[in-house]
Amino acid sequence: MDYFHYSGDRLYCEEVALDRIAEAVGTPFYCYSERTLLRHLRAFQEAFRAVDHRICYSVKANSNLAILDALVRHGAGLDIVSGGELERAQRVGCPAERIVFSGVGKSAAEIRAALTHGVIMLNVESEAELYRVNAVAAGLGVRAPVALRINPDVNPRTHPHISTGLKRNKFGIPHGRAIALYTEASRLANVVVVGVDCHIGSQLTDLAPFIEALRRVRGLLSQLRAAGMDIRYLDVGGGLGIPYGEEDAPPSPAQLAEAILTELREEALTVILEPGRAIVGNAGVLVARVEYVKSGEEKQFIVTDAGMNDLLRPSLYNAYHGILPVVRRFDREEVTADVVGPICESGDFFARDRLLPGFQEGDLLVVRSAGAYGFSMSSNYNSRPRVAEVMVRGERFAIVRRRESVRQLLENEQLFPGEA
Ligand code: LLP
Repeated sequence: MDYFHYSGDRLYCEEVALDRIAEAVGTPFYCYSERTLLRHLRAFQEAFRAVDHRICYSVKANSNLAILDALVRHGAGLDIVSGGELERAQRVGCPAERIVFSGVGKSAAEIRAALTHGVIMLNVESEAELYRVNAVAAGLGVRAPVALRINPDVNPRTHPHISTGLKRNKFGIPHGRAIALYTEASRLANVVVVGVDCHIGSQLTDLAPFIEALRRVRGLLSQLRAAGMDIRYLDVGGGLGIPYGEEDAPPSPAQLAEAILTELREEALTVILEPGRAIVGNAGVLVARVEYVKSGEEKQFIVTDAGMNDLLRPSLYNAYHGILPVVRRFDREEVTADVVGPICESGDFFARDRLLPGFQEGDLLVVRSAGAYGFSMSSNYNSRPRVAEVMVRGERFAIVRRRESVRQLLENEQLFPGEA
């Protein structure tokens, strides 16, 4: 459920017409609905209210400070994966007891920064990382709270690029080696074992893999407790899918909660969740202008001023994103066309062979469900400055990230010094 809707023929974000924003900020731009964002957060908070829990929004999905600020002010914690994301968490004043630090390649400097600021726990992904965390904590004279990220070897049945809980994936510690490594962790002087972590993939549209992973983890929990370890946190990761197309019907946060809580009935634990996409995905759209309408020999192309550098998901995962006109016109005939960008790659597309309204040069369109892994994965490929980000709150909108300039792009570069 989101707050993008037509009123008359114009597409609105909450109470603001998107063509009005386009007029003011130019195109392309990302537009986020704060009300949608907070509604999705609330759905998680309510779903888990019967148990002690933390909703640690996964910053990588969309790390704009205004988004983080809105979520943190409404009670969310944050799941971070880098020193940069830690700084963002600090900027919006996220309390240490609401931050988890995940990621497969934490550097010593990042571990030091996290321990200095304080976090609920570091989700450790390898034996080598465990020793590094211990050493860094020793240097600081502290004990680092850790969980081990377990790879349960469960098939999340999602796109192979975004599954993480299979044996062949680089993530986590194999389930079979978990007990041994936990035992080792509990012997280290500067580490304190506080949790178990598991994240199996993203855009999961079925509850079965979550349940399967949880059953494996629960077995481990009892063993760890029997061995005297005080496991206080169970981090079940993120991964809940969202509807990208009209027919998609992924489980709701309430259904996910019911499945998780049924599995965990008698466990005295704080449950941590790391949702990213489910909170921000459908709270954002990418707004672009049609530059050209072009007829190829076999196909029609709608060339927009946004490209794969702005939204990579269709190119990278062949992901489906809905396309809507910002102003509906019923006098135009529908056409089957590709919506493409200006980048010099055949993979630069937002939609292929899609039945669309008859767009014309100068029209505005939106690419839907672009709030998650949209701007955060964008790049400057083809020397294109990254687009502006706008947030709407009711009847007001504000630029929450200015459009980059070409000057900024070139700022860090210099010619090889020396005689010409
Ligand atoms: N926790 C961990 C440890 C993760 O690796 C991720 C996502 C999340 C939480 C949040 O997952 P979510 O709730 O958003 O599914 N770029 C891809 C998705 C990559 C997901 C990476 N990890 C895409 O655009 O589909």
